[in-house]
Amino acid sequence: MTRLLHHAAVAILSLSLTSIALNSVVEESSNTGTLRFAAQTQGIFFGAAVVAQPLKNDARYASALSREFNIVTPEDEMKFGFLRPKRNEFNFSAADSIVNFAFSHSMQTRGHTLVWHQRLPQWLTERHLSPFEVAVILKEHIQTVVGHYRGRIYAWDVVNEAIDDNTKYRSSIWLDALGPGYVSFAFRWAHEADPQAKLFYNDYGGEALGPKSDTIYDMIKTLKARSVPIDGIGLQSHLSADHPPNFASVLANLKRLTALGLEIHITELDVAITMPATAEKLQRQANIYRDYIKTCLAVPNCKAIVMWGATDRYSWVPRFVPGKGAPLLLDDELRPKPAYYAALSELRSGIRFTTTLP
Ligand code: XIL
Repeated sequence: MTRLLHHAAVAILSLSLTSIALNSVVEESSNTGTLRFAAQTQGIFFGAAVVAQPLKNDARYASALSREFNIVTPEDEMKFGFLRPKRNEFNFSAADSIVNFAFSHSMQTRGHTLVWHQRLPQWLTERHLSPFEVAVILKEHIQTVVGHYRGRIYAWDVVNEAIDDNTKYRSSIWLDALGPGYVSFAFRWAHEADPQAKLFYNDYGGEALGPKSDTIYDMIKTLKARSVPIDGIGLQSHLSADHPPNFASVLANLKRLTALGLEIHITELDVAITMPATAEKLQRQANIYRDYIKTCLAVPNCKAIVMWGATDRYSWVPRFVPGKGAPLLLDDELRPKPAYYAALSELRSGIRFTTTLP
């Protein structure tokens, strides 16, 4: 009987420590009917990409963010070209507003992204730079940005989308000047600037088993074998309601990434609908959110689920994918959709921590 009581006490203590570690005691999470409360009960980060402009101007948007989520990602405000309009000019104000908002509401922040082939400024792409100049610029960029946010970022997407759709290293100013080694340089420079931040590789199309996820797996395995400071993998998870993922294959991929010792984040989850968004399509979307969240909850190292936006109103999908839209949990008027209730139900019901008593 004593052993049973001992194990029960240990289980209760570990659950309470986990919830404290997740900064769960905050005013917003006292509202028990929210995604945020359910997520923190599960011991998982659940969040959204945030846009600075409406955060400042749309009080209902800001309120929905702090009520429903415990982690945020600046959607564009930390990207190279956004932060650094000139070589010696960094403009942190928009990104700071998101990081400060998160901090004031006891939310964590994912930094996105230090090294990417897109959203680069003309001063960088229009000049012919030597490999040495490119390396100097990249190192000073990473260490200036990571240093600016030192201690305030839970995880950085250090390198984003380095593998192309043919499972090769993607051509970019970084690869063309420095070769594939730019990836390990980036992680080492980021770690020097903030040893506490978790450092992630982030990509799309590698969620389930397949050639691209195999290539990403092999790349990260090699980086870890070379003692490159990489802590986790971000699976963007831009999904379609017309083509649900193979959840068993995603689960198998999450498990093999766990076996590498990686923390796993779902970093840009959205489920695009071919418009118009009929009731049947919205239910199909809800089922995909439910099953994707279930898949992450089944793997203890899957510790964060971040949607690529909080509301359909500001989603990138209609801007970038003609004919598609309504990909998120809250509609254009910030009202919960069937997908919201499906996510809430799954976060509430999934049994995350299994305490194995003797
Ligand atoms: C997108 C943003 O949502 C858009 O606002 C921006 O114009 C382009 O980038 N993968 C990524 C994200 O890692 O940074 C991209 O975000 C979407 C694809």
